[in-house]
Amino acid sequence: MLKRMKSQAHTNIALIKYWGKANPEFNLPTTSSLSMTLDSFYTTTEVSLSEQSQDILILNGEKADATRVTSFLEQMRNEIVDFPKLLISSDNQVATAAGLASSASGFAALSHALVGLLELNLPLEEISRFARMGSGSASRSLFGNFAIWHAGNGSSESSYAESFLNEDVGLSMIVVEVSTEKKSVPSSLGMQLAQSSPDYGKWVEHSAVQLDEMKSALVARDLEKVGVIAEGNALAMHALNRTCKQPFDYFVKTTTEVLNSLKSYRQKGILAFATLDAGPNIKVLTDKNSEKKVLSLLSQDYPQLQMSLAHAGQGARYV
Ligand code: PMV
Repeated sequence: MLKRMKSQAHTNIALIKYWGKANPEFNLPTTSSLSMTLDSFYTTTEVSLSEQSQDILILNGEKADATRVTSFLEQMRNEIVDFPKLLISSDNQVATAAGLASSASGFAALSHALVGLLELNLPLEEISRFARMGSGSASRSLFGNFAIWHAGNGSSESSYAESFLNEDVGLSMIVVEVSTEKKSVPSSLGMQLAQSSPDYGKWVEHSAVQLDEMKSALVARDLEKVGVIAEGNALAMHALNRTCKQPFDYFVKTTTEVLNSLKSYRQKGILAFATLDAGPNIKVLTDKNSEKKVLSLLSQDYPQLQMSLAHAGQGARYV
């Protein structure tokens, strides 16, 4: 075992979403998902041996609540090998400011660094299974460009992520920060509630069809089609939240307004589609030719909102 190890992993945004668990203990999903890793937002995490009797988390230079990280490390002590208590020092690059969750990049960087610290020579697919147990979406952040996380057959071994089309196809993402308020419903709870929707089974079935369509659209570099499928998949995910037994909604007024604006840009022939995660913020999908135009239209229409531009980014690595 080494003394210390440092890794960096970027966040990712799903074009085909993960929204439901078949097994919450191991974060086994009900559907396979597909994402783009982003260049602009990442987490750098160093792991080293702790001199204390517990795991310690330092987040952006300050001591933080280590409950989630500790329970993840306990799971890793069972899954991989028993190892001593660790000091985890993690820095997020602008992820929170842009309204993006840092759990994907965070657990990907932590899993990657841990495997390095333990001197295990494991392929990224194997590391993705560990990252998955920390946060489902983290499994996809090990890979650059596009990644697919397989739902698998119900066993933990069969649910891992892998690279899909490790190329920049020219897709751009504009993150529109609609609200900086903390999520009203955390993603794990949101999924659990959504699974009681009478439409949930249909969503799972349709998601498999959309995944195949998305793969073909990316291979063909048909970014219009990528946008249509991604927006359809995200809106269907949010519709589950409104039709479940204890309905809830991540959308706020501005979310709907921005979605309508994107529709009006499309009517003028401009490429602009949306995807949304467990919150009101919008990630606008466009391409490198149209991104300036879309950014300037959005800034004109919503001068009060903060926006940032991202492209395809790289996978996890030692730094
Ligand atoms: O990985 P989690 O538990 O934070 O869940 C992520 C859920 C979504 O972001 C809404 C969708 C996805 O596939 O990333």
